[in-house]
Amino acid sequence: MEKEYIEPRGIYRSLRVLWKHVAVLLALVTAYLTFPKWFSWYNFGVSTANDAFDYKSTYLNALKTNLAGNWSEKYTSEPHLAGTNRGFVEWTKDKFEEYGLAARVDTYDIYVSYPHEHSLKLLRSKDDKLLYDAPLKEDEIKKDKTSIGGEKAGVIPTFLGYGANGNVTAEYVYVNYGTKEDFETLEKLGVNVKGRIAVARYGAIFRGLKVKFAQDAGAVGVLLYTDPGDDHGITPANGYKQYPDGPARHESLVQRGSVQFLGAPGATPGDPTTPGYASLPGAERQDPHQSIGRIPALPISYREVTPILKQLNGHGKKSPKEWEGKIEGIDYYTGPNTNVTLNLYSDQIFKIQPLHNVYGEIEGEKKDDVIIIGNHRDAWIKGGAGDPNSGSAVLIEIARALGQLKAAGFKFKRTIVLQSYDGEEYGLLGSTEFGENFSRELKRNVVAYINLDSAVVGPNLKLEASPVLNHLLRSVAKEIEYPNKKGGSLYKHFQEVRGDKIGTLGSGSDYTVFLEHLGIPSVDLGFQPGKNNAVYQYHSNYDSYYWMTHFGDPDFVFHNVAAKYVGLLALQLAQQEVIDFGTKDYADSLVSYFNVTEHLIPESWWKKDVSKCKSWKDFLRWDLDDVAASKEMAVVYSPRQLYPFPELFAAKQCKHSRLHLMVDVARSKDLKLKDIVKLTKTDIERLQNVTTIFDADSEALQVKFEGRDSLNFWQRIRLHFELKHHNAVLKYFERNFLHHKGLHERSWFKHIVFAAGRHTGYAGQDLPGLREAIEDDDFDRFVEWLGILSKAVRAVSAHL
Ligand SMILES: *[C@@H]1O[C@H](CO)[C@@H](O)[C@H](O)[C@H]1NC(C)=O
Ligand SMILES: *[C@@H]1O[C@H](CO)[C@@H](O)[C@H](O)[C@H]1NC(C)=O
Ligand SMILES: *[C@@H]1O[C@H](CO)[C@@H](O)[C@H](O)[C@H]1NC(C)=O
Ligand SMILES: *[C@@H]1O[C@H](CO)[C@@H](O)[C@H](O)[C@H]1NC(C)=O
Ligand SMILES: *[C@@H]1O[C@H](CO)[C@@H](O)[C@H](O)[C@H]1NC(C)=O
Ligand SMILES: *[C@@H]1O[C@H](CO)[C@@H](O)[C@H](O)[C@H]1NC(C)=O
Repeated sequence: MEKEYIEPRGIYRSLRVLWKHVAVLLALVTAYLTFPKWFSWYNFGVSTANDAFDYKSTYLNALKTNLAGNWSEKYTSEPHLAGTNRGFVEWTKDKFEEYGLAARVDTYDIYVSYPHEHSLKLLRSKDDKLLYDAPLKEDEIKKDKTSIGGEKAGVIPTFLGYGANGNVTAEYVYVNYGTKEDFETLEKLGVNVKGRIAVARYGAIFRGLKVKFAQDAGAVGVLLYTDPGDDHGITPANGYKQYPDGPARHESLVQRGSVQFLGAPGATPGDPTTPGYASLPGAERQDPHQSIGRIPALPISYREVTPILKQLNGHGKKSPKEWEGKIEGIDYYTGPNTNVTLNLYSDQIFKIQPLHNVYGEIEGEKKDDVIIIGNHRDAWIKGGAGDPNSGSAVLIEIARALGQLKAAGFKFKRTIVLQSYDGEEYGLLGSTEFGENFSRELKRNVVAYINLDSAVVGPNLKLEASPVLNHLLRSVAKEIEYPNKKGGSLYKHFQEVRGDKIGTLGSGSDYTVFLEHLGIPSVDLGFQPGKNNAVYQYHSNYDSYYWMTHFGDPDFVFHNVAAKYVGLLALQLAQQEVIDFGTKDYADSLVSYFNVTEHLIPESWWKKDVSKCKSWKDFLRWDLDDVAASKEMAVVYSPRQLYPFPELFAAKQCKHSRLHLMVDVARSKDLKLKDIVKLTKTDIERLQNVTTIFDADSEALQVKFEGRDSLNFWQRIRLHFELKHHNAVLKYFERNFLHHKGLHERSWFKHIVFAAGRHTGYAGQDLPGLREAIEDDDFDRFVEWLGILSKAVRAVSAHL
């Protein structure tokens, strides 16, 4: 039986509301007369003196001194693989403390793997004669001291984190990028991967998924190499010199990295032995192989892959044109060549290791409203000047400048926390375990999360964000100068290089747990190489201080811009009384994502009857039935929980008869998919209308707050509650898009609008529930996800 939700109507409702209003007024008057001191909040806490404080100038002034290069040099001076550099933990904590932040270290016990032994040999099949023994080492470069001295000097061997141990000898085939489609193409071509080693080039998708798809296809091992064909023409063949003499990739460069199955069905970010819960001492451990592979894998350079791929010339099938890279002498045949085999041996030490996050906090007057700026500290290599130390250097600069603001007597309205995570590289370990351990507190308190990671590896700003932040990101970029000869603002530059386009978040960095597990609005930002800039020597020994000071950001000017931008973003979020979110931007994005989805619906689906569909009933269900979800919502998101009688103070109530419409629709016997797609679309369009009004209210409330001195006592009380209500709605706006059961086969991913692509890992997928149902040709699931989306959208419209 479906319960119909009937709203109380007419005189009873009016009387009930009237009684509440009278009651709250009486209570307030009595309280004021009895305990006038309780009403100090009536001045809104913050003194007007603080209002006059030009905090933005003070913050930017602090950054006229640029020490980013100092911090970069420090962080690139020693190896700091996840869980291995206790000195950097203490140094980071000391820095936060030196600048006046309350610092602490948070430790989790996490399953990781460390390099031990490896080898790669090309053999003649008939007699195992050794044809080539790959050195599996990057060249030492005199000018770049980070690359010299081997393991004794802290140089970290080439390896793939979580790559399984094994010693396999087999024929091998070239699998292009190793995407799902690439393995399908091989099948069509009649090239069997089973029992063979897959040789894939880096690019297109997250490397761990290449290993997963290879394993699924029956491969016994994987080699990952970097092809100069993916360097946008900055290659020796085009006359560019190799690092350190020019901007091209060094031919011996090896990209290390994690081969965790990021984003794949069944896999979770974080410790693979504690999926969905924190790796505390004594935590129950599970078999990690949902999230990591069973076949060995090694990363190699393009110089090392050359003799290997050369053996495939003329063997197997000629690859499709798009599969061709740019290594000289290679014809990019799939193979195999039955006359040669590879012996791939990889041995790593798997263990549970304490990993340390470091947090530094400046408490605000509204201490339970928190803005987090996060970045990881661990790196695959000794240097890591770009990844992650450009972000780490920027984080320390932000701490220094915020510290000066605090020292000058400035009162922060909301709390700002800087976080330095361990173990991001292996699979977002530190941030995910933190997010899982404190999920309740974070959902309740965090307003927004700002992610750094590779903050500077070139001059072009890239932004990916939850759309509620779009407005903020653009407006703050207008306040910052872009450091080039032409001049102009950072925003003008962003328009020029990105066409003003803010991207969709996928995965691959620490924002994942905040946005996709906890529903916290997030942004990931960084300066990246443009078309003519030096190739970034990603995850290699050459991502060093020398590279940064000669190619990436020689004078650390972009580090400085990043510190200014991120700090001002956090300050704007912290200081503006009405949280600076734009909800209309979110609704607009939903409209465009839904529009794209609509065009992907198969023709034959449109006229299909949905009333016989199992999931149709869910489509009709209102939150009231959904005990788990509504309980969680009641605790976490509802303004009703924050203070009584929200209807008295809500700026504007939006009423609509959607529910009645639904019930009418349900009675119609002959219901087609097109009808409910149209309904959902109407829901989203209504959200556009509602958010237009809501954003205008935000502005009006902010103006009213700024002119609060001219308000009388009762007007102030009203404004106080209006603000409280409005800010609660803003703060929890994005939480409404969490679905407590999570995505199909990926229950850890709770966000219904944004997810890591299940076949790409890095790239974001909008409306994943709907898109995946279309990909899987699952009509019933599509209807179910329409219901989930429309329910969420209706809930948001009702809250606003
Ligand atoms: C930063 O580095 C410069 C140049 O190496 C040095 O002169 C200066 O003392 C350093 N400042 C700090 C605060 O470490
Ligand atoms: C790996 O296997 C090969 C034979 O397939 C063997 O010769 C070699 O010793 C093995 N290596 C290790 C380290 O076990
Ligand atoms: C393998 O080698 C033999 C002789 O060395 C040669 O006759 C044969 O054509 C080769 N096969 C392939 C597939 O290259
Ligand atoms: C996990 O969270 C609890 C509080 O919920 C806290 O007491 C504990 O210190 C946290 N553990 C770690 C390792 O941070
Ligand atoms: C919807 O998509 C179509 C084509 O994909 C495009 O032409 C149209 O402008 C889009 N409409 C909206 C509102 O985004
Ligand atoms: C949104 O507002 C426009 C203009 O006021 C109106 O025509 C339209 O019907 C509204 N849409 C919905 C879905 O409420």
